[in-house]
Amino acid sequence: MKVGVLGSGDVAKTLGGGFLKHGHEVMMGTRTAAKLSDWAAQNTKARVGSFADAAAFAEMVVLAVKGTASADALRAAGAANLSGKPVIDATNPIADAPPTNGVLKFFTNLDESLMERLQREFDGARLVKAFNSVGSVCMVNPELKGGKPTMFICGNDDSAKKTVAGILDQFGWEIADMGKAEAARAIEPLCMLWCIPGFLRNEWLHAFKLLE
Ligand SMILES: NC(=O)c1ccc[n+]([C@@H]2O[C@H](COP(=O)([O-])OP(=O)(O)OC[C@H]3O[C@@H](n4cnc5c(N)ncnc54)[C@H](OP(=O)(O)O)[C@@H]3O)[C@@H](O)[C@H]2O)c1
Repeated sequence: MKVGVLGSGDVAKTLGGGFLKHGHEVMMGTRTAAKLSDWAAQNTKARVGSFADAAAFAEMVVLAVKGTASADALRAAGAANLSGKPVIDATNPIADAPPTNGVLKFFTNLDESLMERLQREFDGARLVKAFNSVGSVCMVNPELKGGKPTMFICGNDDSAKKTVAGILDQFGWEIADMGKAEAARAIEPLCMLWCIPGFLRNEWLHAFKLLE
């Protein structure tokens, strides 16, 4: 697939590298291409452009920017460039205030997730929450003692979720589909839980698994 990755941070670089590894075509989108110069030198098959360039190039978009900037990044990408396309939403609504005893603060509440806000504004895009509940180092083919981890996903469009499930399978994940966009109210806070061992004990190499 042609994948447009919006972002220049650890998540964008890791997922961009993962898509290249699995044979996809990648364009990274950023306001500042220089931030990706080292990454681009190591990933010569990838292209780098603006948010709008990457979204226009893409058959599937990945949103991997700071939560507080996610709506601005999608506006810069352009609603027309997103329309009809699956958009993997890897963002978390982390507020600028510091964590309390290792617990992050969110700027959303339990009755409205960030993904729902974005889906409402960009109603032509087919958002799927994924990759938000694990650290970037474990996103692509993680090797964990406990076996294959579970990625919790949700979104309103079944065919977009099917496309994203195919990517997650390539990237070494089991998939737990939690339903429509409202489920992001529960999936986004998994990031808070995931980060607590990191903040308290500097443990960052774990992932969730759903057992039956
Ligand atoms: N780090 C992790 O391990 C991890 C794991 C799971 C989920 N997440 C989530 O994934 C997202 C990306 O995380 P990250 O750590 O890779 O990077 P980050 O530092 O949270 O975000 C960096 C990106 O945000 C963009 N950005 C910042 N301010 C902006 C603005 N005013 N307008 C438009 N874009 C703006 C930057 O754009 P430019 O490129 O233009 O500078 C850059 O691409 C976050 O929502 C985070 O919560 C992170």
